[in-house]
Amino acid sequence: MYLNNVTSTDFIGGDVGTRTESPTNTVLSGDCIEVMDRLDAGSVDFILPDPPYLADYRSRDGRTIRNDADDRWLKPAFSEAYRVLRRDRFCISFYGWPHADKFMAAWRAAGFRIVGHLVFRKAYASSVRLLRYQHELAYLLAKGSPKQPACPIPDVIDFRYTGNRLHPTEKPVSALLPLVCAFSNEGDLVLDPFCGSGSTLVAARQLRRRFLGIELDSGYHSIASKRLQWEAA
Ligand SMILES: C[S@@+](CC[C@H](N)C(=O)[O-])C[C@H]1O[C@@H](n2cnc3c(N)ncnc32)[C@H](O)[C@@H]1O
Repeated sequence: MYLNNVTSTDFIGGDVGTRTESPTNTVLSGDCIEVMDRLDAGSVDFILPDPPYLADYRSRDGRTIRNDADDRWLKPAFSEAYRVLRRDRFCISFYGWPHADKFMAAWRAAGFRIVGHLVFRKAYASSVRLLRYQHELAYLLAKGSPKQPACPIPDVIDFRYTGNRLHPTEKPVSALLPLVCAFSNEGDLVLDPFCGSGSTLVAARQLRRRFLGIELDSGYHSIASKRLQWEAA
């Protein structure tokens, strides 16, 4: 059982869900491949990863992202994500378009079926070079044959600027809420294995889902943990 291996320092504000033995409502510190390896198979209802884009990103103020310069983690991480996801459920993964082939290969190798694609439209440009880069991307991935959502959402969603105060690539909660709402149910366990400052977890909490975040960087783990505690207060 996973909880035997969790120390009090990396298990913040969590409790044990009723349907599974996975820790819930918590942010775990560590490498998501190792942490997911200790979760039960089929114990998560929806996965919403925002992984490193393999862009070797450095923000204007010098902040970087762990594992953004190599792809060794990609296949093992999605293989674990597939294993811990319940059958007939969804994963929505953001990705970086210059490496779409690598992401696609990792998802397919894990067993996911590619069943939809989402574009997040920005009113501003993240950078300007050959084009004004004004969108983010994600694929809708299925394990098994999930039911169609009760209210299908558009595959183009507005993406407001967060200011990136908590994380250099912070996702707006407003863009994540429709995803969590459409592809999970109240009480479900939502996992973000690359949770950064915890934006997905905030969306899950606001929609009365249970949440589980994993973050490798101790600084972002601490920010996400405090953010979720603050949200709960
Ligand atoms: C694109 S950022 C996520 C940003 C997040 N969506 C937010 O709104 O703050 C990806 C995160 O994955 C983390 N990361 C990279 N490799 C990881 C791994 N193997 N296990 C867990 N986290 C990892 C990085 O430290 C980074 O914070």
